Amino acid sequence: MTAKMEAKKILVLLGSPRKKGNTAALAEQIIAGAESAGAAAEKIFLHGQDISACQACYACQRPDSEGCAIDDEMQPIYGKLIEADAWVIASPVYWFSMSAQTKLFLDRCFALPAYKKDAFSGKRIAVAMSFGDEDAFNSGCVNALRTFQDAVRYVGANLVGMVYGSADKPGEIQSNQSLMKTAEALGRKLVQ
Ligand SMILES: Cc1cc2nc3c(=O)[nH]c(=O)nc-3n(C[C@H](O)[C@H](O)[C@H](O)COP(=O)(O)O)c2cc1C
Repeated sequence: MTAKMEAKKILVLLGSPRKKGNTAALAEQIIAGAESAGAAAEKIFLHGQDISACQACYACQRPDSEGCAIDDEMQPIYGKLIEADAWVIASPVYWFSMSAQTKLFLDRCFALPAYKKDAFSGKRIAVAMSFGDEDAFNSGCVNALRTFQDAVRYVGANLVGMVYGSADKPGEIQSNQSLMKTAEALGRKLVQ
């Protein structure tokens, strides 16, 4: 009897209000790479979702916790995060860091281990960012990249790679051919 191999699942969290913006374009390239390696992708636009800020009640940290106490649209996302083999987190640089939509999501991930112990361990993660300034340091992109590096290390997940570049008008980043190729290669690596 031959066991049917299931396609690897990637969950793509998009933190820009622009559905056809630069970070969405980078994420599409990562998805294309992952799909070419046989994976299946699901996208979630965080903007427009009813995701409240963490209220620091610590209900999720109790030994008998059943999850986050806030009943909003983050609840179905917890299950998808657990089910996925890999995550892509895509965010524009806003005020020298990640967007507020992305940060709300990230804070709420504090509760993820209440749904499944070791939910983060070994999870493969890719990050995509874009910024208006010409320079990754001046733009503040490096601040957010460092935040992702620290967070991923802290939870014991696996940061497979980060792609980032300068662009301002929606979709402008697509003219950066070498970055587009790097993003596609990251998608393949994410699911290998
Ligand atoms: C509210 C806001 C804040 C921004 N802050 C920065 C910033 O601090 N540094 C920077 O280089 N670009 C900044 N930008 C520009 C965006 O990062 C840039 O346009 C990016 O490519 C947008 O990505 P998106 O198309 O995926 O939304 C800001 C844009 C907005 C709307």
